[in-house]
Amino acid sequence: MTTKPQLKVVDGKAADTPAAIDVSDFNVWCCDAHILNNVSAQFPARGITCIVGPSGSGKSTLIRSINRINDEVPGFIHKGAIRFDGRDIFTDYKDLTTLRTEIGMVFQKPCVFPKSIAENVLFGLRAGRKLSTADRLMIVEENLRAVSLWKEVSKRLDESATSLSGGQQQRLCIARTLAVKPKILLLDEPTASVDPVSGRAIEELLLELKKDYTILLVTHDLAQCRRIADHIVFMCDGEMIEQGSRQAMLEAPVHEKTARYLNNSFCDC
Ligand SMILES: Nc1ncnc2c1ncn2[C@@H]1O[C@H](COP(=O)(O)OP(=O)(O)O)[C@@H](O)[C@H]1O
Ligand SMILES: [Mg+2]
Repeated sequence: MTTKPQLKVVDGKAADTPAAIDVSDFNVWCCDAHILNNVSAQFPARGITCIVGPSGSGKSTLIRSINRINDEVPGFIHKGAIRFDGRDIFTDYKDLTTLRTEIGMVFQKPCVFPKSIAENVLFGLRAGRKLSTADRLMIVEENLRAVSLWKEVSKRLDESATSLSGGQQQRLCIARTLAVKPKILLLDEPTASVDPVSGRAIEELLLELKKDYTILLVTHDLAQCRRIADHIVFMCDGEMIEQGSRQAMLEAPVHEKTARYLNNSFCDC
């Protein structure tokens, strides 16, 4: 039998720091497998929350649920609530495009489209085709600057995005996500398939972006989590074991499992 995870108040400020995303008693099943088991977690507005845990613990399933990507996967069933600024993401949105405009997602493998660099940035903009050339260029520049890619690509905006390096492609994917002006950024191991230098550039970028965005970052890289997390959510075997501020989780975790995982990357659940 599983016990409900004990929640810790984030830095003692939970009451006056409204959660941007509030997951409560959330369950996911797929093909008879119980993938997420009564997960409750609060993701505070602004700042970086790192979701960590062993492989297969349900981290990707959790953030894919927040973007409702699992709705499209045959056999997936969910129960429980996910609220975004008080709205239920399953019942209070007329369409998925609106939800995904507000909650953007970046995946582990950079997925640029076989189009130009500029077209990739503009891809998600519903009104993109109606904009003047000057406005389109302004949006492209603004978002490429936001991911520190402008200087590298400003002279080759019409070249194919596939000609960029892996690290540049991942930053382009983040620029494409930012261009639709989301409030939440979901990132599933965005540095796992890029070189270490690009990985550090993306970390620096997230530290800048966290001033304006609520960032949920799945990472298996505990050193990265220590470097950039404001909050940490620890998951194991489909359950949320513990959550709290980086300091509380690293220095005084309540659960032995959390201490073992965060200190030694080991978990026996
Ligand atoms: N599309 C799917 N079909 C069946 N099982 C899945 C699917 N996606 C994930 N799972 C299972 O759900 C569990 C959690 O997976 P995942 O969320 O990807 O974990 P993590 O991201 O922590 O590595 C794993 O046991 C995985 O095999
Ligand atoms: Mg994963």
